[in-house]
Amino acid sequence: MKTLDTVLQEHRTFPPSQTFTEKARIDAAGLSALHAQAERDPVAFWAEQARELLLWRTPFTQTLDESRAPFVTWFADGELNLTESCLDRHLATHRRNKAALIWEGEPTERGVESRVLTYFELHREVCRAANALRTLGVKTGDRVVIYMPMIPELVIAVLACARLGATHSVIFGGFSAEAIRDRVQDAGATCVLTADGGYRRGKVIPLKQNVDEALHSCPGVKHVVVVSRVGCDVSMHAGRDHFWADLLRGQSAHCPAVAVPAEHPLFILYTSGTTGKPKGVVHSTGGYGTQVAYTTRHVFDLRDEDTYFCTADVGWITGHSYIAYGPLLHGATVLIYEGAPDTPHRGRLWEICERWGATILYTAPTAIRSFMRWGDEWPKRHDLSSLRLLGTVGEPINPAAWLWYHETIGQGRCPIVDTWWQTETGAIMVSPLPGATATKPGSCTQPLPGLSVEVIHKDGTRCQPGQGGFLVISRPWPSQLRTVWGDPERYRKTYFGDMFIDGKPVYFTGDGARLDEDGYLWVVGRVDDVLNVAGHRIGTAEVESALVSHPAVAEAAVVGRPDELKGQALVAFVTLRAGSAQRSDAPLSASEAAAEILRKHVVKEIGAIARPDEIRFTEALPKTRSGKIMRRLLREIACSGRARGDVTTLEDIAVLERLSAQHSDEE
Ligand code: PRX
Repeated sequence: MKTLDTVLQEHRTFPPSQTFTEKARIDAAGLSALHAQAERDPVAFWAEQARELLLWRTPFTQTLDESRAPFVTWFADGELNLTESCLDRHLATHRRNKAALIWEGEPTERGVESRVLTYFELHREVCRAANALRTLGVKTGDRVVIYMPMIPELVIAVLACARLGATHSVIFGGFSAEAIRDRVQDAGATCVLTADGGYRRGKVIPLKQNVDEALHSCPGVKHVVVVSRVGCDVSMHAGRDHFWADLLRGQSAHCPAVAVPAEHPLFILYTSGTTGKPKGVVHSTGGYGTQVAYTTRHVFDLRDEDTYFCTADVGWITGHSYIAYGPLLHGATVLIYEGAPDTPHRGRLWEICERWGATILYTAPTAIRSFMRWGDEWPKRHDLSSLRLLGTVGEPINPAAWLWYHETIGQGRCPIVDTWWQTETGAIMVSPLPGATATKPGSCTQPLPGLSVEVIHKDGTRCQPGQGGFLVISRPWPSQLRTVWGDPERYRKTYFGDMFIDGKPVYFTGDGARLDEDGYLWVVGRVDDVLNVAGHRIGTAEVESALVSHPAVAEAAVVGRPDELKGQALVAFVTLRAGSAQRSDAPLSASEAAAEILRKHVVKEIGAIARPDEIRFTEALPKTRSGKIMRRLLREIACSGRARGDVTTLEDIAVLERLSAQHSDEE
């Protein structure tokens, strides 16, 4: 595992400041005590968290059941409705008229557009939306797809589904019609909630149009509900399509919450894997809610006075756990922003922080690197003195970006929580606690109490300090994904088929990591065929299958190359079918036109996030004698121009020589 040794060694440590620790929920002694309590009896520890943090309609008597591992259950005989914990319970407290959501829209031509929903108002809107969905026949167990911009209705829609016990599946607004179609079909959704369009960098994204295109081949969808956000023209199919406002008009502000068993699927969220087809990651209600509430409380040190700003989209797991559910479970004020951070200017996020007095900011390393590149003058124009805590998620943060975030945004005052987790883990697994843990730039530090995240060698032995290996989770955890929707065997094989400790399968994260002398974790990145582009997971196989679906393409292989801003960039090696308009031996200028056609094709098939940064045409791909594409060689060529590693298994060495020569021509 060469890559593991090359990770930058960073030795600076930042102990929590005294001013922060004095007020923090947990200091170093408190953290040790929590670890000790959790280790004594992890299952009892989680049962206590579940009882304390959530409202239960029927208290549970069972906690963890591993008898069908890796299919596990938590709190299985308990019943609850998570929206009662997020909304109803705050209504009888001082939080009744406190802001739950503060939303700011992207366009500013007519002044700043914002909406504030108190807990009382959010509860009312969720109930009205749930009642409206009920009139369409939506009920417990149905799957509802949500494809919306970052507007309050997105959060309302998520919670309205949960209110009825309908399983929501949010699709990020940047995905294409084809991606919607695949997900709607896979989930067997009967209802789609969307908007006419959404704003992104001043442009209108035609969301309803994408849905219409997708639904040509989704006969199972009976109803589409459309929020009017941008006011563009949309075609409405009689009997199927309804405007959100019309449907909610006259609906009662009371809607009984349907109590569901703790294991009831709260949501399905699709994520990329090592094969072409995205996986529907299934999350439970009780276990998911418990760990999300627990981590929100401790990692963000969340308190009533906070204005918590998370820049993620609700279309990703971060937005599910740390916008829609976590902060509301604690009655916090959540600040959300609709648009791009550089619209209309590069100081937009800092302006938002200043305008609403954000106290906590949670964002991604790729964003931090962009802010750094845009220059200090943007944050310097704004008063950021309200901030007290900063967080990052999505990919390893390079120490330079960490230090910039600490100095320029946190002004040396705010601890940084570098949180490691995944769509599949549902909630944060590894992170410092801001009042307790000394941080090191680039390390997500240590697993939280109750969680067992370890680094092991391929043979299942544990890595010693200073060694690198594979990141695994060696004990079930409450917010663990329960299965892959419709494909339990894929769940077992993907996550529990590769790594074993003492012969027992353990969950493999797909990440490589190094353990340092203090037992801190340094996640290096994926070791499988999944790339992390700007904090988003993209399976190379998914992009490859999009490429080969173009009639001119014979074969394609996609690899990652390091990218200063995005972490990784996508490089595609493509062979064209004989006789297609653009041949691989055509001059580069002609190939560029072909490359643009293929890029557009990938955007159409998946969405702009999967757009290849570079497309290289080649006559053949390097393969082993058994016909397997040697991606390692392609990676080396993409990164450095030539393949340096072992090529003895390569079938035709000339292929490699041609690829390397092509690279130096381009230089
Ligand atoms: O490789 C790890 C990286 O992001 C992957 C999970 O991606 P996704 O399911 O899209 O969820 C992202 C938001 C939780 C992980 O396997 N990753 C996430 N957080 C970190 C990270 N890598 C290093 N440090 C992190 N803090």
